[in-house]
Amino acid sequence: MRSRGLVVPRERGESVRQRLAAEGWLRTDLRIRSDARSLTLPIQDGAPVPAEWGVVLDTEFDLRPPDGPADYRELLRGSAEDRARAPRSFDVVGDIVLVRIPREAESQAPEIGAALLAFVPGARIVGADRGVHGLERRRRIERLAGGGGWATVHRENGLAIDVDVERAYFSPRLAVEHARVAEEIRAGDRVYDLCCGVGPFSLHFARDGRAREVVAVDLNPAAIDLLERSQRRERFSVRITTHVASIEAFLPDRTPFERAVLNLPHEGIKYASSVAGVVAPHGRLYYYEIVPRTEFERRGDVIARTIGPRGEWTVLGYRVVHPYSPDSDLVAFTLERAGG
Ligand SMILES: C[S@@+](CC[C@H](N)C(=O)[O-])C[C@H]1O[C@@H](n2cnc3c(N)ncnc32)[C@H](O)[C@@H]1O
Repeated sequence: MRSRGLVVPRERGESVRQRLAAEGWLRTDLRIRSDARSLTLPIQDGAPVPAEWGVVLDTEFDLRPPDGPADYRELLRGSAEDRARAPRSFDVVGDIVLVRIPREAESQAPEIGAALLAFVPGARIVGADRGVHGLERRRRIERLAGGGGWATVHRENGLAIDVDVERAYFSPRLAVEHARVAEEIRAGDRVYDLCCGVGPFSLHFARDGRAREVVAVDLNPAAIDLLERSQRRERFSVRITTHVASIEAFLPDRTPFERAVLNLPHEGIKYASSVAGVVAPHGRLYYYEIVPRTEFERRGDVIARTIGPRGEWTVLGYRVVHPYSPDSDLVAFTLERAGG
């Protein structure tokens, strides 16, 4: 049967499949196609799949015999209105499912938890995600169904990443971004991963093997402990040097490197100038911020002028990583420093 399909490299296939399923964009009535290098995932007509996730085309798929509902909300009891109030999307982190419950669906929360536990293959526990808080951006989570704690191993772009969704920040919505930045690392680059969390950027850089040096910094000791655990398991040839430190304490007098990532979307601007100071001539800064949708273009130039004198920094581009609120998005800016 003909359908729209999304072609993705094999190593990203599972991450993208999970994102599509979580957004309700994956067609479950058709079989995923695969060859040695790529997967073609059948997607719903009109699904607004971001261009970075893969290449969309029209192609033939085999039918898949039905083995359950296509949407977890079909498992909820109650009226059609009750089901419509339940959230459509959810996140899968390893064997943990996290769902944001809107106020109007609060009374259905336990039932939503049970439905997701039954619906998501391999799910062990379901939690209501009550948002991140504090400097360490830790998540408040309330158990809705299942059991066994909040630590897990999440698979992303072929990597196994140790995560504890309560003790350290992690979002499966950054999978494409982690891979995109890693692809821009050249042979011999040295990279700072600032505010690294459990280290998904660094683990990509180390796995890909082109970087000469990877230095990861976060003030949350639990995040660095999880990064070290992933590193011990994976044993890459490139070693990630880790620091439990605030970037304020870490940055002074550091050698400039060819690449720096600063992923602290709400407060990064406070540190952007000092971070710019540890980027070598011709080097790049990957900078993340929550930006109102009307300001993407202008914001890049403002950031460039904030971090250095006129002409020193060029905005190479920006990319919407994911929606943040009804009128703002998480945006990735790539800035390049002029030559010495
Ligand atoms: C949005 S998370 C980063 C996630 C990570 N880069 C990723 O891709 O998953 C922000 C991280 O910054 C850390 N953090 C917050 N303020 C910091 C500071 N001043 N210095 C160092 N780390 C900081 C938090 O502990 C948290 O792990």
